[in-house]
Amino acid sequence: MSFLKRNLVPLIALAMGSLVLAAAVVLVLLPPPGRPGVITSGVAAIGGPFRLTSQTGAPVTEADLKGKPFAVFFGFTHCPDVCPTALFDISSLLKDLGPAGDRMQVLFVSVDPARDTPELLRTYLESFDPRITALTGTEEEVQAMAKAYRAFYRKVPTGGGNYTVEHTATVYLMGRSGEFVTALDAHENREAKLAKLKRLVAAS
Ligand code: NI
Repeated sequence: MSFLKRNLVPLIALAMGSLVLAAAVVLVLLPPPGRPGVITSGVAAIGGPFRLTSQTGAPVTEADLKGKPFAVFFGFTHCPDVCPTALFDISSLLKDLGPAGDRMQVLFVSVDPARDTPELLRTYLESFDPRITALTGTEEEVQAMAKAYRAFYRKVPTGGGNYTVEHTATVYLMGRSGEFVTALDAHENREAKLAKLKRLVAAS
C-alpha cells in the first residue's frame, strides 16, 4: 500500500472535519437574524429631526409627531403615476383602518419644493384622505429630511426646461417616539399593508 493510499481516508476525514469546523465558526460569527419590524439604534437608524412646512403654511418638526405613530413617504405633485397611486393606496388603507387611523399621522414629503408650494400641495391633497399632511420646504430642508430617512431623489431633465424627479417610493412606518418600525413595500398585497398599519396603531 502506498503512502497516499494508506493516508487518503484519514486525510479526507481531516479535510471534512476542517470544513465542518469552518462552517461552525462562520455561523457563530454571523450576527443573529434581526427580529422583523425592529431596528436597533445607531448610525444606520432611519428618521430623526427635521423642519418643514405643511400645506397650510405651518412649520412642522419631529417634535410635532411625538406621541403618535406616523407614516412618511416622499414624492411630488407632478409625479405621473407612482405618487398618486401611493396616495390613493394610503387613503384607502386609512379608510379601512377607520377611527383607528386617527391615532396615526401620514406625511407626504415633497422632493420637488421648487414647484410644490404649500398652496399647490393643499389643492393636490383634496383628492386624498384628509388625514394626510403634505410637507415642503427649502431645498436644504427637504434634503436633510430625505437624508434622515435614507431616501433618494434626483431631478431628471425631460426637455424644454421641464423635469421629473426620481425618488424612493418606500412608505416608512415610524413608532410614537419617532423610531423606525417597518416599511410598506409597494409589492405587498393590501392585506399585508393593512395588517402592518393595524399593528403600528395597536402598539402605540
Ligand atoms: Ni412619484
